[in-house]
Amino acid sequence: MKDNTLGKNSLLREEKEEKILVDPYGRKVTGLRISITDRCNLSCMYCHNEGADCCSCGPRGYEMSPELICGIVREAAKFGVRKVKFSGGEPLFRKDFEDILACLPPLKEVSATTNGILLEKRAKTLKAAGLDRVNVSLDTLDPKKYEEITGAPPGTLEKVIRGINSAVEAELTPVKLNMVLLKGINENEIDAMMDFIRPYEGKVILQLIELMNIDPELSKYTIDSKALEKNLEERASEVRVRHLHHRKKYVIDGVEVEFVRPMDNSEFCAHCSRLRVTADGKLKPCLLVHDNLVDVGEARSPEEIEKLLMLAVSRRKPYYTPTAKIEKLERMKK
Ligand code: 5AD
Repeated sequence: MKDNTLGKNSLLREEKEEKILVDPYGRKVTGLRISITDRCNLSCMYCHNEGADCCSCGPRGYEMSPELICGIVREAAKFGVRKVKFSGGEPLFRKDFEDILACLPPLKEVSATTNGILLEKRAKTLKAAGLDRVNVSLDTLDPKKYEEITGAPPGTLEKVIRGINSAVEAELTPVKLNMVLLKGINENEIDAMMDFIRPYEGKVILQLIELMNIDPELSKYTIDSKALEKNLEERASEVRVRHLHHRKKYVIDGVEVEFVRPMDNSEFCAHCSRLRVTADGKLKPCLLVHDNLVDVGEARSPEEIEKLLMLAVSRRKPYYTPTAKIEKLERMKK
């Protein structure tokens, strides 16, 4: 890996009197997705562990301190990063999550992706500490299926639903429900999920997520995303496109449904504006790439963090490109 881009000004662009991070492909970096722990109380059948690769994991149990996390965000915020999403494992496993939130610089949006199990008791304190909103992973409303998908003990789904209600009450809104679509398991539950969120009157949004079948074993659960997209389009009274990943947003029967389609999607990569941070303190340019991480755990000064951020941005590369798709089709033909 070439390191000669370290600190090069070409990764910074002057825009509206502000320096912003831009990668070698012209993509602005405006968001961080920070995993704050690998620990989790579920073992979902499809989990990609936020791209954590065991070879890159530090000593078991090492997690970034609130100071390091806030130091990274502070430097990134100096260069145009406006949105931070915390994830895990399960981020609510961190008892000091509120401390982490409290030391962040001002941002446009601070959110977290949680499985919701521990949310009921924490929603208010998290909001008070500065969390704006949450995504809650919820693939099914059927308790048995929930237990099968997540490995959770009976009674867990009810806890998650109470967590969602507390999040709405605490105004961690809009709450987005992350529903990973699994053929033969929950693909027939989209309407039930829409019925579930309707009474929340816009405070809860449904986010349908295409399964990332990083393990070949998972391929059999892949749904036909194109057909689903067509169906959503036909039923929608309004369709919008978000800049992040070019995600489509539909309004159907009064509820908002977003569709995230990351697989083989060059549009998704072309509009990616996120840099990841792993739980053990590594900047990760792409969820699917494991050999280009930048260790920030030992950084001792803001200047050092800044340099490492630039290095990680210089290593960002779209995973799926139009040519990659053509090459794959060619390979399949042979
Ligand atoms: N495919 C799609 N989404 C996934 N997530 C985790 N693993 C996968 C996968 N294989 C997402 C889900 C979950 C969040 C924590 O990560 O949306 O809600």
